[in-house]
Amino acid sequence: MAKPICFLFLLLLLRVSTSLAAPTPQPDSSLYDTFLNCLTQHTTNSSTPLSKILFPPSNPSFPTVLQNYIRNARFNTTSTRKPSLIVTPLEESHVQGAVICAKTVNTRLKIRSGGHDYEGISYTSNEPFIILDMFNLRAINVDVANEVATVQTGATLGEVYYRIWEKSKVHGFPAGVCPTVGVGGHFSGGGYGNMLRKFGLAVDNVVDARIVDVQGRIFDRKSMGEDLFWAINGGGGASFGVVVSYTIKLVPVPEIVTFFRVQKTLDEGQNVTEFVLQWQQVAPTIDERLFMRLLIQPGSSKVVKGGKTIRASVVALFLGGADELVSITGKEFPLLGLRKENCTEGSWIESVLWWDDDESLKNGAKPETLLNRNLNSASFLKRKSDYVQNVISKDGLEWIWKKVVEVGKIGFVFNPYGGKMAQIPSDATPFPHRAGNLFKIQYSVSWSDPSPAEALNITNLAKRLYSYMTPFVSKNPRSAFLNYRDLDIGINNFDSRSFQEGEVYGSKYFNKNFDRLVKIKTAVDPENFFRNEQSIPVLPSKA
Ligand SMILES: Cc1cc2nc3c(=O)[nH]c(=O)nc-3n(C[C@H](O)[C@H](O)[C@H](O)COP(=O)(O)OP(=O)(O)OC[C@H]3O[C@@H](n4cnc5c(N)ncnc54)[C@H](O)[C@@H]3O)c2cc1C
Ligand SMILES: *[C@@H]1O[C@H](CO)[C@@H](O)[C@H](O)[C@H]1NC(C)=O
Ligand SMILES: *[C@@H]1O[C@H](CO)[C@@H](O)[C@H](O)[C@H]1NC(C)=O
Ligand SMILES: *[C@@H]1O[C@H](CO)[C@@H](O)[C@H](O)[C@H]1NC(C)=O
Ligand SMILES: *[C@@H]1O[C@H](CO)[C@@H](O)[C@H](O)[C@H]1NC(C)=O
Ligand SMILES: *[C@@H]1O[C@H](CO)[C@@H](O)[C@H](O)[C@H]1NC(C)=O
Repeated sequence: MAKPICFLFLLLLLRVSTSLAAPTPQPDSSLYDTFLNCLTQHTTNSSTPLSKILFPPSNPSFPTVLQNYIRNARFNTTSTRKPSLIVTPLEESHVQGAVICAKTVNTRLKIRSGGHDYEGISYTSNEPFIILDMFNLRAINVDVANEVATVQTGATLGEVYYRIWEKSKVHGFPAGVCPTVGVGGHFSGGGYGNMLRKFGLAVDNVVDARIVDVQGRIFDRKSMGEDLFWAINGGGGASFGVVVSYTIKLVPVPEIVTFFRVQKTLDEGQNVTEFVLQWQQVAPTIDERLFMRLLIQPGSSKVVKGGKTIRASVVALFLGGADELVSITGKEFPLLGLRKENCTEGSWIESVLWWDDDESLKNGAKPETLLNRNLNSASFLKRKSDYVQNVISKDGLEWIWKKVVEVGKIGFVFNPYGGKMAQIPSDATPFPHRAGNLFKIQYSVSWSDPSPAEALNITNLAKRLYSYMTPFVSKNPRSAFLNYRDLDIGINNFDSRSFQEGEVYGSKYFNKNFDRLVKIKTAVDPENFFRNEQSIPVLPSKA
């Protein structure tokens, strides 16, 4: 199947959330005028006329600017609530002014970097809002001698990887596998990629950051202090301020790495169950240079009764050569049946292109392709997540296969942990899912049919499969991954129950780290200006 890994399982529809389906506000010229006046007063040094960075709904470019970084067709409809204004800063001082002036016009600010949020919360809202769109702030400075890079949050991961590769063939960075994902949301949410077993998350390799706070002041790590710095490296940026840039530590990659894809099908006598059982035992414990993602998909079969089967595929990256890899998997994962001819050796940047699996990136695509900010297709997406802490038995797996076939449209992506992930304490960053987690499950469904009935059906099917998985996944709380945003697990309505609502999703995303996030939030933004459907709430006494 020729779909990008990012958009696997292309299937079907649309979730019409009542809170997000409000009418489009009328162009509000008084909001625009007040905002522009305010911005003029608060921006001392601007070589650009400030009107050039403001897009009210009446501006002919408004729909294009809005849609450029919408990455989920569910929130690209006429009924999706639109912003009253889009602000596209060209320099840090514009960001500072935008925060101050959004407060002046008493309107919520939604911050958007790459726009990949799975619930669209960077560009939709359940209350009137302004989008602060960071796409122009995307400078990347790579300092190979010191093995660091400073990246502005409007940059994409593809741009980061490309700029590192330009300067060094033996350095990389352990972040996500889709090149169009934005640095701002990805890093602040604790982004991970196919080197996490060796190097941990993106945020485990962040050494500094610049943030604009609720008063429009700008801080670096030293001046913001360790609490706030901790919070914006996994706790989600949008609860605390606008992250303008991160400084990251580059990691060493070998000149030659190896990647492969292997597929097993239940109806071809390939013992998918035995295979997945062995994968669970091996993938989180094997050599930490090896990351083996497992994809489970319902498929059609000509052989099996009912015409349904299960396909299991392993997609992998090894930070070393193919001979060594085949020897390791031969010993530890015999059911994989990996041979050298199943492997591709190449540079790290070639593995980045290969992993995306977008046809335009395959077959000798040039690294320059990573600079294309618009690779992805316009699918409808729904994702959910879970953590597995105990190996699922053979009986359990066989039961799950039946349910996957019954539900029919939802696939799983299993991402193995272990290695470096298990060595980092669970309170080192807000991201708590460290030692004790064997793998993360992503429930993945993408579709192209815009019919609202289909959408409702599909999102309901996803909930059903999630419910079937209850016995096999983490409990008390049932944990979830912030970057796989899922509003089904709780939503904040900013009413008198807002703290309790926040505790529901907050404890799932952050476990015991939630309490520290609440304290930091209450200290840095006591009025809860930086808020969204799943932001960190302030302590009730301060609300
Ligand atoms: C195709 C696809 C592939 C993905 N692959 C991976 C993967 O391999 N690994 C992984 O970990 N995740 C992955 N994700 C999830 C992704 O990391 C998150 O959706 C991430 O939040 C996206 O960042 P963004 O800047 O593109 O999103 P946005 O939608 O712009 O932002 C997401 C959230 O962060 C906030 N935010 C954005 N920028 C800032 C800022 N500068 N300051 C403060 N807050 C900010 C937004 O307000 C919003 O709440 C993928 C998502 C998609 C759609
Ligand atoms: C002033 O604006 C110019 C042009 O955008 C920029 O290069 C410079 O860094 C800015 N100076 C300050 C102090 O922000
Ligand atoms: C959003 O709609 C526009 C205009 O119809 C279209 O060009 C774009 O591809 C759509 N994007 C997504 C993610 O659906
Ligand atoms: C490995 O490659 C061989 C030869 O092309 C092929 O027959 C075999 O099915 C592949 N093995 C796997 C596990 O994909
Ligand atoms: C697969 O399972 C069947 C039935 O349990 C068994 O007979 C067969 O030997 C297994 N094949 C492999 C390659 O393990
Ligand atoms: C929803 O999906 C299921 C499974 O594909 C199907 O059996 C059912 O008819 C669908 N319902 C609607 C209303 O489309």
